[in-house]
Amino acid sequence: MSTRHLAVIILAAGQGTRMKSVRPKVLHEVAGQAMLQHVINGVAPLKPERIVVLMGPGQEDVRTLAEQNGCEVVVQHDRLGTGHAARVGLSVLAEMTAEGAQADVMVAIGDSPLIRPDTYAALCDQRGREVLSFLCFRPQDPARYGRVRLDAADQAVGITEFADASEHERKIDLCNGGVFLCDGPKLYGLLANLSNDNAQGEYYLTDIVADAWRRGWGARVVEASEDEMLGINARPELARAEAIMQDRLRTAAMLSGVTLIDPATTWLSTDTQWGRDVVVEPAVWIGAGVSIADGARIRAYSHLEETHVGADAVVGPYARLRPGTRLAAGVKVGNFVETKNATVAEGAKVNHLSYIGDATVGAEANIGAGTITCNYDGFFKYQTKIGAGAFIGSNTALVAPVCIGAGALIGAGSVVTQDVAENDLTAVRGTLINRPDGASRFRARRRAQKEREQKG
Ligand code: UD1
Ligand code: CA
Repeated sequence: MSTRHLAVIILAAGQGTRMKSVRPKVLHEVAGQAMLQHVINGVAPLKPERIVVLMGPGQEDVRTLAEQNGCEVVVQHDRLGTGHAARVGLSVLAEMTAEGAQADVMVAIGDSPLIRPDTYAALCDQRGREVLSFLCFRPQDPARYGRVRLDAADQAVGITEFADASEHERKIDLCNGGVFLCDGPKLYGLLANLSNDNAQGEYYLTDIVADAWRRGWGARVVEASEDEMLGINARPELARAEAIMQDRLRTAAMLSGVTLIDPATTWLSTDTQWGRDVVVEPAVWIGAGVSIADGARIRAYSHLEETHVGADAVVGPYARLRPGTRLAAGVKVGNFVETKNATVAEGAKVNHLSYIGDATVGAEANIGAGTITCNYDGFFKYQTKIGAGAFIGSNTALVAPVCIGAGALIGAGSVVTQDVAENDLTAVRGTLINRPDGASRFRARRRAQKEREQKG
């Protein structure tokens, strides 16, 4: 099979009207990643020589994503249907569709983000054997999917789109998954023959099946599971896709040695990286770009994005780790602590009610409750450096740029506006006034005043 060339065309130019969105449909995200990215990742292991993404006019964000992934982009100016889109895609693949070319073209769709690489590979197993093959499935509710008609030898005779189907055809439970694999030159001929004489006035890619059958080529169906073939046309389906993907990610995490105490309330991203024996408590959100090393514990109600959590670190409950957070081994970040662009070295503790932003915290430092790094003056951001073993008293404001030396001790309630050298003790506060029994005398005066006013 290796002598045959392979190209993939991903149809992603549709308007996605049913999403009711200003954003192109294929850029809506599932588990923190655009649907189109999922599809590209699904076909990439096939190592196609070329991947061509069809985008609609003006969908520049689709172009950016496609190009970042090394795909070529072709604009479909008039969106005349999936068949037309495939034809526009083929226009840049002349060498794969020329007479006598030993090449196959897969046409995939950008709004089916759940198809696994293995399933695309199973379709590719038909290369060189069948002229045409495609993915299909038997959903519990066939809804508006195209219905697949088979002959006695289980070859596909044709696909009837829901809008064109008779009552009888709508009862068919075998549905088109939308992904086709075809001999390159023959696909060219089939697409050239399409007409738009149907209920939607579109050029249907699906019509190539009946045409192939008429030419005696037949078409082999490759059945896949419903939870992979879900097509996203509107937001309720997007939510279903999210649920299916989350379930997959959670299962994979648990199988790799992570304890999710309440999987249903743990939200993960496709790129989450796990060490062993990580424990995640209920109601945790793990956004894109998070890695969590061996033995760490993420306690309930924490929210993490673009963060590394070191081995045996403990985060939360109720912690918010924002992008650029790097926690080394054994760090403790406790309740109502927010971090951003913060590197916290081994064994340091930020246990309560703090904001640590644009900062480095040295090993074994102790950041007292309510400590705030004041990193922003309304115009610029500034760095705070806290040395190893420093002790920052509660309710301290560190006004950046500022450097606290290793082993320094800052008294509670200080507003620190200048650097503190190693092992210095700094406290900034007003004079403490104490009047023995003063509170009793104050209350006596006030009580007497009140009685006078009530009598008068
Ligand atoms: C399509 C199939 C249907 C199948 C279903 C599977 C056709 C005619 N119908 O229906 O049989 O059961 O997928 O999910 O193919 N697109 C373009 N340009 C266009 C039109 C569409 O690039 O002019 C792209 C869309 O961005 C989308 C994909 O093609 O990613 C599928 O189009 P969509 O309109 O969603 O087709 P369905 O009606 O879902
Ligand atoms: Ca669709």
